[in-house]
Amino acid sequence: MKYLLIGNWKSQGSLEEIHQFLSTVGRLSIPENVRPILCPPFVYLDLVKKRLPAGYGLCAQTCGVFPKGAFTGEVNASMIQDIGCGYVLIGHAERQESLDVLEKQMERAWEAGVVPIFCLGEEAPSAWYSLAKKISYLSSLPSSALFYVAYEPIWAIGGKTPPSCGYLSQAFQYLRAHLKHAQGFIYGGGVRPENLKEILDLNMLEGILVGQSSFQQAIWTMLLAILETHGRAQQKMTTR
Ligand code: PGA
Repeated sequence: MKYLLIGNWKSQGSLEEIHQFLSTVGRLSIPENVRPILCPPFVYLDLVKKRLPAGYGLCAQTCGVFPKGAFTGEVNASMIQDIGCGYVLIGHAERQESLDVLEKQMERAWEAGVVPIFCLGEEAPSAWYSLAKKISYLSSLPSSALFYVAYEPIWAIGGKTPPSCGYLSQAFQYLRAHLKHAQGFIYGGGVRPENLKEILDLNMLEGILVGQSSFQQAIWTMLLAILETHGRAQQKMTTR
């Protein structure tokens, strides 16, 4: 399985910046072990789709709660699928949506054939109780439900330092034990080129989610390079 490198641009980018980013990034080779995925703001999704470098995936930052209809301003999951976008983030902490809303968005994503990446994270270090409702919802889903889990401790988002490896390892053990049928586990929150190797060395993840800094070409280039080195090292270990 390829390692997901998800770049969540959040609310940034202009036509010019996006053209520049894509033309630079389009020249980089993609490591064999990596599936890069870009999450631009809604208004740029279609543009990015049309210029998406080969091998890249596309992800929306959220989707509407309703199917198509009289819901002014809403972008529904069928529209996201219609333009060729394969993934959608559900419940990013910055959106502060209730679980009730997230459950409906998950339904809409599945109906439309878009793969949801469900975000969850505790509010403060070790505040595991704040995850309970989301975990109970996800674990109640049928094993046929296709979704990824993006673990993003709220207190680490936007910072420069993720939790310690010991902390992350405990968190992922807990999540994996409770959410056995998730398609994969992704980490986000303070991931930077300086700390990526450490996170990869945990060998507990299927992907990483990087916020605003992923829209910087230099950082994106470094992230790809680090993932490539990691992939090579892994390959060596398995062929030994
Ligand atoms: P960060 O954001 O990389 O800036 O911490 C991650 C996210 O919000 O998804």
